Amino acid sequence: MRKQIVAGNWKMNLNAAESQELIDALKAQTFNDGVHVAIATPYVHLAAAVDQTAGTSIDVAAQNMHQAASGAYTGEVSAAMLEGIGVKTVILGHSERRAYFHETDALLAEKVNAALENDMHVIFCFGEELEDRKSEAHFDLVTSQLTNGLFHLNASQWANITLAYEPVWAIGTGETASPAQAQEMHAHIRAVLAAKYDDALAQSVSVLYGGSVKPANAKEIFAQTDVDGGLIGGASLKAEDFAAIVNAF
Ligand code: PGA
Repeated sequence: MRKQIVAGNWKMNLNAAESQELIDALKAQTFNDGVHVAIATPYVHLAAAVDQTAGTSIDVAAQNMHQAASGAYTGEVSAAMLEGIGVKTVILGHSERRAYFHETDALLAEKVNAALENDMHVIFCFGEELEDRKSEAHFDLVTSQLTNGLFHLNASQWANITLAYEPVWAIGTGETASPAQAQEMHAHIRAVLAAKYDDALAQSVSVLYGGSVKPANAKEIFAQTDVDGGLIGGASLKAEDFAAIVNAF
């Protein structure tokens, strides 16, 4: 059975005290046992978050990392640095990184390699813009993001990849893809994986949905056959909402 995962993407929110407060509030929640829970905090809170979640089932993830091992890259953080403080998961390819920091599929492929070389788990994000959907280019666009970012990997490397389909038009907008639209794209993603690798691999990879997931819509989205969980932005900043989403499975 595929892993069910709900990951919170805090983005650039919360100071150190607020981060600790939210983690304390999350620790007081009861989470559905079968669901793997992760929180992606800003870099500066990662080490504290690893400590604060020690002994719990909450995994701490980074929101980004640099592709190089070390060197003259002022302001950047490497996979080995993350690994060194106990962070084993990284989100790569978020649409905000693609849009505001010009991250390309080719760059993301390098970042994926660096993460895997350091035995990290990758949550790889991708998804179409509204214009792509309006022009019915969304399936092709998603296929090319997967092909260019990930299809250089061999089958065994996929054990450390989780996919997160996030239509850009649904992120932070309150606009969600309908459960049927999510299912349709997730089925497409699995078909593309099966064509490149094989059906067993396609069926083994967890594919999350992201974009305005809230307690009120999570159940219906997670009930779709090919949806294995969610990447949650805004609603991950409130412990009760995040727990309600985790428990929507
Ligand atoms: P949202 O963000 O839940 O606030 O739409 C999702 C994301 O960007 O991962």
